[in-house]
Amino acid sequence: MTKILTKHFDEPKLHELETYRRLDGYKGLAKALTMAPAEVTAEVLKSNLRGLGGAGFPTGAKWGTVPPVDKVPGPRYVVVNCDESEPGCFKDRVLVTRAPHQLIEGLLIAAHALGAKETYIFIRGEYQNQYDVLRRAIDEANAAGLTKHASIDLMRGAGAYISGLDTALLETMEGKKAWPRQPPPFPTVAGLMGKPTVVNNVETLSMLPFILREGGEAFAKIGSPKNGGTVVFSVSGHVRNPGIYEVPMGSTLRAVLAEAGGVREGHKLKCVIPGGTSMPPLMEKDLDLKLDFDQIRAAGTFLGAGGMIVLDETADAVDVAHNIERFLAHESCGQCTPCREGAVWTVEILERVMSGGGVSEDIPNLTRLGENVTGKTICALGDTVGMVSRAYLQRFPEDFKKRIPDGQKS
Ligand SMILES: Cc1cc2nc3c(=O)[nH]c(=O)nc-3n(C[C@H](O)[C@H](O)[C@H](O)COP(=O)(O)O)c2cc1C
Repeated sequence: MTKILTKHFDEPKLHELETYRRLDGYKGLAKALTMAPAEVTAEVLKSNLRGLGGAGFPTGAKWGTVPPVDKVPGPRYVVVNCDESEPGCFKDRVLVTRAPHQLIEGLLIAAHALGAKETYIFIRGEYQNQYDVLRRAIDEANAAGLTKHASIDLMRGAGAYISGLDTALLETMEGKKAWPRQPPPFPTVAGLMGKPTVVNNVETLSMLPFILREGGEAFAKIGSPKNGGTVVFSVSGHVRNPGIYEVPMGSTLRAVLAEAGGVREGHKLKCVIPGGTSMPPLMEKDLDLKLDFDQIRAAGTFLGAGGMIVLDETADAVDVAHNIERFLAHESCGQCTPCREGAVWTVEILERVMSGGGVSEDIPNLTRLGENVTGKTICALGDTVGMVSRAYLQRFPEDFKKRIPDGQKS
């Protein structure tokens, strides 16, 4: 299978500048610096690169919404989102540890395209090792004169899941409480300190060296329609070989599971969470579904950030929904009432069901509660609160009914 980001992961010293350079490293940046900024953005547009932090927004189109320097003079920024706090996602952590220069090269390419002289890497506080690896790599890049056109600063988060949401991340960077902003304006127009700011995910930016070196068209050809290149899945749960797996966009769920060795010995597949715990699960009937941002939506879920969790028949849907909703209730920032209250009520109902004290009204109440949260909050965390319990309820009604003494009535 074609690999872009993990192609050289067998090289033990890939994190060092010398090794990275020997393997064509920084050639994409050299090429970008010979091009006009708008030409770089055009190449990214051609590549069909989609944002790999969760939303799948086309990267070139997002860059295109940054106002040009002659219209809005003054500073503009590029920020790397390395917060990666979605349960089940661990690909950014591996990409940063193994290939920090791939990310730095991508960031410097983006800075040139967008006219940013200052860039930031916002990294999750718990990622100490990744912080150290990046610190060393940035020092190497500085010493080699690679950062003449744009500086790179490393900034640490404090472990809040909500700080991974772009506008909450910017609030955090400004030293404030991580409350999401209500767009518009979007960050590309008014972001960090009110200046135009592009926030991109680690994996998204790490794709840029290839796109500049080989061309946008070559990248687009690897993937599926409107979804260029590859995607890195973090696969965990009930599989034989958990780990990260890079596959072309549009690969089937069956193929990704096969890469991870399939469901653990002696067990049967129950469902697969495709993109991190916020995403509704896929079922066995979806094994031949092609995984890209658009095709997966047709199956009622999202590619998210590629955090694939495989569950076998030993998993109980009520326990799974409770586990996820409890996390969301803990991480809700509390700004929007439907999310703040709805998450706690959802957890309370699920705990009643789990304790054996559930009543048949709990099932329609969970559904109604979910409907009253989704779409009623500033950010997508609220949507998730409303979506998760409903998704498990819809797909596994028997798991719920069997734990409610009079559940068969509902
Ligand atoms: C609650 C929440 C948490 C998020 N956490 C992350 C994260 O940890 N890393 C990330 O890249 N994007 C995260 N996102 C998505 C970002 O808001 C944003 O879409 C992304 O960083 C944009 O980069 P991309 O266009 O390269 O995907 C999160 C979104 C939500 C709603």
